[in-house]
Amino acid sequence: MPLSISLTVNGKPVTANVEPHLLLVQFLRENLRLTGTHVGCDTAQCGACTVHLDGRAIKSCNILAAQADGLEVTTIEGMSKDGQLHPMQAAFKECHGLQCGFCTPGMVMTASALAADSPDLSEDEVREQLDGNLCRCTGYHNIVKAVLEGAQNMKARA
Ligand code: FES
Ligand code: FES
Repeated sequence: MPLSISLTVNGKPVTANVEPHLLLVQFLRENLRLTGTHVGCDTAQCGACTVHLDGRAIKSCNILAAQADGLEVTTIEGMSKDGQLHPMQAAFKECHGLQCGFCTPGMVMTASALAADSPDLSEDEVREQLDGNLCRCTGYHNIVKAVLEGAQNMKARA
């Protein structure tokens, strides 16, 4: 039997009836058409589906839509403001932290939550904290560079 949920997605209130087994990633992509959140594995391993739930980075293939009831979800579509890229998005662009871009939304969501908590991360810490986000293209070097630069840009803008 469907459940009624009310949550905030990218700053807008959303109310919907969802099946109890519907994953949050399916709700975002299929119900709300927010397809910037990608599905790479569907088994909580690749991080492509990462979004913010009340400011924390979570894998949206690993949580039910019903569990987001009453909470605030931010997806990659909600990161830019007034036509300006979020500092972490801008750093990925400047540092060439992407190639095919499939992993990038999840990387940006993980990295921005991480940098909000710990702006002065070391390279080793970035590498350790990003171990739940997989990239098949870049070799990670420019991603790490982007996260370090994005963290400093976020700090400067805070
Ligand atoms: Fe969620 Fe891979 S699709 S972790
Ligand atoms: Fe292609 Fe990361 S840029 S998977």
